[in-house]
Amino acid sequence: MVSLGDVRRSAATLFSQGQHLAALRLYDAIVAAAPLDYDARIRVADCALALGDPGAARVYRAAGRFCIQAGHPLPALVCARVLEAHGGDASELITALVADYGSESRRVGKFAARIASPDEALAIEIPDVRQPAPPDALATAVARAEHATDELRDYPEAVHAIPLLSALSEAAFRRVLQTLVLTRLPAGAHVIREGEPGSSFFFVAGGELRVYATDGLGRQTELARLGEGAVFGEMALLSAQPRSASVECVTEVDLLEVGRQSLAALADELAVVAEALHGFTRERLLGNLMATSPLFKPFTRMQQRDLLRRFTSHDVAPGTVVIREGEEGRGLFVVLSGELDVSRRASDGQGIPLGGLRTGDVFGEMSLLRDAPTTATVVATRHATVLFLAREYVARIVDAVPEIRSYLEALAEDREIDNQLLLGEDAAPADERILI
Ligand code: CMP
Repeated sequence: MVSLGDVRRSAATLFSQGQHLAALRLYDAIVAAAPLDYDARIRVADCALALGDPGAARVYRAAGRFCIQAGHPLPALVCARVLEAHGGDASELITALVADYGSESRRVGKFAARIASPDEALAIEIPDVRQPAPPDALATAVARAEHATDELRDYPEAVHAIPLLSALSEAAFRRVLQTLVLTRLPAGAHVIREGEPGSSFFFVAGGELRVYATDGLGRQTELARLGEGAVFGEMALLSAQPRSASVECVTEVDLLEVGRQSLAALADELAVVAEALHGFTRERLLGNLMATSPLFKPFTRMQQRDLLRRFTSHDVAPGTVVIREGEEGRGLFVVLSGELDVSRRASDGQGIPLGGLRTGDVFGEMSLLRDAPTTATVVATRHATVLFLAREYVARIVDAVPEIRSYLEALAEDREIDNQLLLGEDAAPADERILI
């Protein structure tokens, strides 16, 4: 007996090596032991397709129908896309998806449930795939995968909406369903690399991915794990900034990509989509800030949440002056999203650029630490969201938490040195100057 998770991994490896019949026998063992495992059914269809068996189409249809009934619309769409890619007809699945998950569905609602996949620890019996397969192995597996849930009647009455899509009008939903592009990736593949440009976002239809950020020293911080139903890649799209993190497949993964074509199909409802995407982004930015910012590092999760609550959040339009040089420091700011420019007035009144600020950057610390007027002007250059912590509260934290004091002091010192270099001032105090 072997755990279902191990069998799935072995089968995936065999499939990727082109050993389709051996992979099929393992996936079939999963379906035999756990008929509700829709992923294994779809994989049986993939193997049958790779082996040239026309029965594959029937399995995709049956597995797709089960997924729709069971509360898993995205894997159902995977079945539809594969059918279409091979000249099959998926209209029945698409119609059922629209009826059950569109904005006029009476199934989407409160008390929603979905039929869970079997436990990955379940012990199952497997054939020895090094031995020749029985002659009817393919036919048996196809029949089993096609009919695995024929007798099942106990489906959830209410199902969960598809994030973003179920909020669209039925016409737009149908249009978008037709344009989502299926990408099937092996474990270890990268979908997104931090810093690259991005013009699409993705729905996870199956498998597991990890999201991680890399710091200047190449160290990785895992930010999240994503599974079926998750959305990612929306941040670069919304902010027109490079990708904020890398996303890598932990297992085999099925993705549905919302690319340019889907966005064009959505044109009249882009506002609905953008608003829903903004919701994801904000939560994620806050989570990432807590995971990566040195400002939050010294604290436990609970303390981080507590600290975050003391910040106020401000959306600023391009051109807004957040700090004006010479005014009294009001508190500490953290950039949650967007971009800001820092500049200082020269004696002739001209502004000299000192640098830019972006997601995760802290500013406003110099005047607070030195108890002096602010030394530069900070202006938003694009739409930005900044978090603000009032000076009284910053003073209390700096007194109570030595790590925060030293972090902010090091930041202020580095910036002072950079500014002096940029402004052509001499960094050394007058009495240390070396006269040549
Ligand atoms: P984008 O910046 O376009 O590319 C990387 C993606 O990783 C990003 O969009 C988000 O969709 C996703 N991401 C970043 N941080 C998190 C997080 N904390 N949780 C989940 N997903 C995230």
